[in-house]
Amino acid sequence: MTEHTPPVAPLLDVRNLQVAFQTRQGLLAVTHDVCFSVMQGERIGLVGESGCGKSVTGLALMRLLPTDVARVSGQVLLQGKDLSQLSEHQMRAVRGSEMAMIFQEPMSALDPVFTIGEQIAEAFRAHFPSRAEEAIERAMHVLEQVGIALPRQRYYEYPHQLSGGMRQRVMIAMALICEPKLLIADEPTTALDVTVQAQILDLLRDLSERTGTALILITHDLGVVAEICTRMVTMYAGEVVEDAPVEDALLSPRHPYTSGLLRSLPHFSPRNAPLAFIPGRVPLPDAMPESCRFMARCAHAASPCRIEQILRPIDEHRRSVRCVRAQDLNLPGVSAHV
Ligand SMILES: Nc1ncnc2c1ncn2[C@@H]1O[C@H](COP(=O)(O)OP(=O)(O)OP(=O)(O)O)[C@@H](O)[C@H]1O
Ligand code: SF4
Ligand SMILES: [Mg+2]
Repeated sequence: MTEHTPPVAPLLDVRNLQVAFQTRQGLLAVTHDVCFSVMQGERIGLVGESGCGKSVTGLALMRLLPTDVARVSGQVLLQGKDLSQLSEHQMRAVRGSEMAMIFQEPMSALDPVFTIGEQIAEAFRAHFPSRAEEAIERAMHVLEQVGIALPRQRYYEYPHQLSGGMRQRVMIAMALICEPKLLIADEPTTALDVTVQAQILDLLRDLSERTGTALILITHDLGVVAEICTRMVTMYAGEVVEDAPVEDALLSPRHPYTSGLLRSLPHFSPRNAPLAFIPGRVPLPDAMPESCRFMARCAHAASPCRIEQILRPIDEHRRSVRCVRAQDLNLPGVSAHV
């Protein structure tokens, strides 16, 4: 950046997002101080062990958590607009047109009694009633964009007439018809077979590259993150523990949990080397330690780890790590030769 280049504002800025659920044991915080930002066109891989709060975070960004049991605090700024301050009516206008979400199981999100084309067109009409006459043409165009052959015929088919992969493409088309700036995809391919998974993920990357749509891809699969994403945000026990450009995160992780996660993947380990694993278990939401949340499992724990850790920026690439020892540990990442 030169002296005269103004700093670019993030598309999405998530600040101290916390989600708690009303349970029989009282209010239980499941995420804490979640902070990260997304620039226009970036593709973020949101990763971490099961139960660490990835889906809850995605739903909180969209304000889709059940309001009777979920308590959300913190700020979610979309192009500077604080979504928590919007009425539900205003938020409905943001969903779909400015940010959209696709889920693991497309069948549950599609209405079996309407044709897929009508459902996609309706998503456009709902946001742009004054341009309703464009809806059918646009629906056919997005069907083509997501790689559905013969879109003019497919438009008139019903969800049950399509394969799982096709239905997921329809969901992506529906999410894209209003040209949102941000797409959140929560495990969008888990229910599909391996070759279809690869096609859908390639499609998401291509669409993001062509249209500049930013993507938050929630996944367990670090191989997918390596291929599709530009940044990786790692969560552990409800907190973001590392946020880095994807290459840095993979080759030189700075948080012991990110490093452990990478070393425990067969895909990334040197051949014939024994697979590493992270001993112990994730603490439960009702028994979070006051120390670093990873301390009981960390081979590098020392006395400064006994206090709560904060997410600190460590370089100029918006890299942040929640570990007091981030700068002095030399942690293994993915072997560059695998
Ligand atoms: N409606 C709810 N009421 C109470 N607790 C909930 C609710 N929804 C989620 N949780 C809890 O929130 C925590 C985070 O769940 P979340 O679904 O975000 O995990 P995840 O990282 O997406 O996991 P996975 O990789 O398995 O999808 C878990 O402990 C989960 O049990
Ligand atoms: S703060 Fe300490 S215990 Fe936590 S990850 Fe860093 S080195 Fe390990
Ligand atoms: Mg999930």
